[in-house]
Amino acid sequence: MFTATCVAPVNMALVKYWGKRNEELILPINDSISMTLDANEMCAKTTVAASESFKENRMWLNGDEQPFQANARLQRCLDGVQRLALAHGGAHRFPLSWKVHIASHNNFPTAAGLASSAAGYACLVYTLARLYDVPLDEQLTTIARQGSGSACRSLYGGFVQWQRGSSADGSDSIAVQLSPATHWPNMHMLILVVNDARKKTGSTSGMQRAVETSALIQHRATQVVPQRSKELKVAIEKRDFNAFATITMKESNQLHAIALDTFPPCVYMNDVSHSIVNFVHEYNEEAGSLHVAYTFDAGPNGCLYVLDEHVPHLLAAIQLAFPNDAQQSVEYLKGIPVPAVAVKNG
Ligand code: DP6
Repeated sequence: MFTATCVAPVNMALVKYWGKRNEELILPINDSISMTLDANEMCAKTTVAASESFKENRMWLNGDEQPFQANARLQRCLDGVQRLALAHGGAHRFPLSWKVHIASHNNFPTAAGLASSAAGYACLVYTLARLYDVPLDEQLTTIARQGSGSACRSLYGGFVQWQRGSSADGSDSIAVQLSPATHWPNMHMLILVVNDARKKTGSTSGMQRAVETSALIQHRATQVVPQRSKELKVAIEKRDFNAFATITMKESNQLHAIALDTFPPCVYMNDVSHSIVNFVHEYNEEAGSLHVAYTFDAGPNGCLYVLDEHVPHLLAAIQLAFPNDAQQSVEYLKGIPVPAVAVKNG
């Protein structure tokens, strides 16, 4: 039996991916840019074993077996990595026909509903790549993308761009690292877990409905995102927190404006989420400049970006504004970006 075990961290989008031009290949309508968290803070851990004695491919997620054959995304990731293994001269250690058993766990509260598919599919594809001796490169990101779009960005640490690409087969829809986390070492992320999370429409169906019904989404994809991506890359390069925070908050707001422009509308943020937005704007106003930025994905939980030197003051203000015994309570998790995917070989 041959095994490999790896961990992959969660990433949080700054410029959001929202909308596909090809559902099956998971090709986006716009570029996106994200920051990857510390692998020890919030990550998926996956072990894959291949054996001559296994009768079929099987997969367990947090201890529960998942239907493998019925999951087209899972199958596509396995086929994709095996195809790359062949292209790299074939699996050296054992035949590709051997079946695999996959076990994956998340080390963060599943109830928080936080980007688990990004870490999960990145980890699955990376672990398969280790098993089949496939190197981490652009081609591997095109396989992770077919598990879950945002997963391709979790293969790299630091600041990462998923380029939409233009080819029909998706070969140029790849993730690239813009800069490692060491480039901006005093950047921190705080995840605000909103307690009363409402049931949401998943990202996949929410963005599909947005592409079909939103009158604003094409303007966003073709006019707004290209400009913002360019500006955000410069802000990251110059470590310009003011520009970084402005673009990040406007991006989050536009994602949720598009969600509301979807018909029927998708409502992801709740009252507590909106209180967090107000809190951040008031906090920055009092500080006299932008000290903190928020972003929200397809759910009510907030993610705050803040520089190291402002973390203690910000945490004190959060505890005052959102005391734990009040209705508007939030819990927080801290994250620091890491330079690369951490790996443990089994
Ligand atoms: C709001 O990557 O979960 O988090 O490709 O359909 O699996 P699928 O969607 P997914 O969508 C993530 C959307 C987002 C924004 C982002 O991460 O860029």
